[in-house]
Amino acid sequence: MADITAIKLNSNVKLQMGTFHVAVWGCQMNVYDADRIRDLMTASGYVEQNEPKGADVIILVTCAVRAKAEDKVFNQLGSWRHQGIINDDTVIALGGCVGSELAHQIIEIDPKIAIVFGPRTAHKLPAMVAQYRATHESVVDVNAEALEKFDALPEQGQRGPSAFVTIMEGCSNNCTYCIVPHTRGGEESRPEQDIIDEVITHVANGVKEIHLLGQNVNSYRGLDANGNVSRLSSLLYEIAAIDGVERLRFTTSNPMEFTDDIIQAIADLPVIADSIHIPVQSGSDRILKLMHRDYTADSYRELIRKLRQARPNIFISTDIIVGFPGETDEDFAQTMQLVDDIKFDASFSFIYSKRPGTPAAEYEDNVPLEHKRQNLYALQAKLEEYATMYSQSLMGTRQRVLVEGISRKSDQELKARTSNNRIVVFEGSRDLVGQMVDIDVIKVMSHTMKGRLVGQGMNLS
Ligand code: SAH
Ligand code: SF4
Ligand code: F3S
Repeated sequence: MADITAIKLNSNVKLQMGTFHVAVWGCQMNVYDADRIRDLMTASGYVEQNEPKGADVIILVTCAVRAKAEDKVFNQLGSWRHQGIINDDTVIALGGCVGSELAHQIIEIDPKIAIVFGPRTAHKLPAMVAQYRATHESVVDVNAEALEKFDALPEQGQRGPSAFVTIMEGCSNNCTYCIVPHTRGGEESRPEQDIIDEVITHVANGVKEIHLLGQNVNSYRGLDANGNVSRLSSLLYEIAAIDGVERLRFTTSNPMEFTDDIIQAIADLPVIADSIHIPVQSGSDRILKLMHRDYTADSYRELIRKLRQARPNIFISTDIIVGFPGETDEDFAQTMQLVDDIKFDASFSFIYSKRPGTPAAEYEDNVPLEHKRQNLYALQAKLEEYATMYSQSLMGTRQRVLVEGISRKSDQELKARTSNNRIVVFEGSRDLVGQMVDIDVIKVMSHTMKGRLVGQGMNLS
């Protein structure tokens, strides 16, 4: 296996023109990484193509959070090979969380994979491709300092009207079921000024909505310009004050560090969107403890009460794991009760997936899969009911929306997003794409809404 530590991104890399295609799975942090990889490859002289067929380099940004997520990349590669979309000349670079989880094992699983990188080494890709092309030996590099990537990447390119900005890398919470601390490493926060600079560049490029990302943004502890530690609430005030930021979101918030200063910032800053994702995972204190989640169902209820007091219209979504090892019917009933108490908006729920090397993988798990499935369906039916209830509550209301693009179903219609994260389609001219406009909600369907434009262009409220 070749050692790439000595290879640096230099002018030779720029000469190696070719095409690349990026495929991405997983969470928003992977979407951010994939966008930055696009910026980097383009700056290095490669040309992006939207389809994999015929690309010289295929870059796979993968997710390992559940076994099914991990399988996706290998299934995709199999199907591309079968269809002749990739061949023996295609340089395949497998990265993201499966890259760092399996590292050298990936080459053993599939010797045709040329390059393995991780979330922390994405910035080394052009050098890794150059190395592989020079030697035809597989290149594996998944280790780097958490923040090295951010310093090494070129300035971010054009995005749509909404842009993700990663504010911290990794996670140190070690929830017993979770592989993320292993795949992304320990938590580290980016300096405040770097984040602000990135936001300013986005706004100059026409971005209206900034979405801050981290596995647990509530524990942000980046240094400010004076070398003092800045917390998430200070960062929110700083970003809200940047001219041109019209909407601000942040994901994911862990309930255990949702401190009152963050709630106060939500109350003070109307630019923060009316929707927030706070994964609860379970409504049973016994299971929360086994999961190593440092809060209780009641402290979660109290947090939501405070949030709704600060922002009465806020929609709250969550993640729930069903069938954690040893989960009893009584534990599950407590989760169902919590869902009824909180009345979550559109949420994500999953059957527990055993992840190698995590503490929970050693726990005895005697609940039959079929029973877990039935519980999941019952939970999802309940979650769907409440999501529909929230959608219906928007019928007849006026909403300020960010126009994200043309609707997929009809090119006469635009697609936009409300503050509380609902998609609305409405008739309007293409030059509204990228702008904030007001619409009246005239129809509510299961997952989208139909609207009517109130005025034209910006500053309508
Ligand atoms: N950092 C976020 C979650 C990131 S992972 C947080 O702590 O809230 C996204 C979601 O995947 C988690 O909220 C959890 O619900 C789910 N998840 C993580 N590991 C899982 C596993 N082993 N099995 C099933 N679901 C899992
Ligand atoms: Fe995983 Fe827990 Fe970290 Fe979220 S907070 S990424 S669930 S270890
Ligand atoms: Fe998946 Fe990695 Fe995100 S495991 S959920 S892509 S941090």
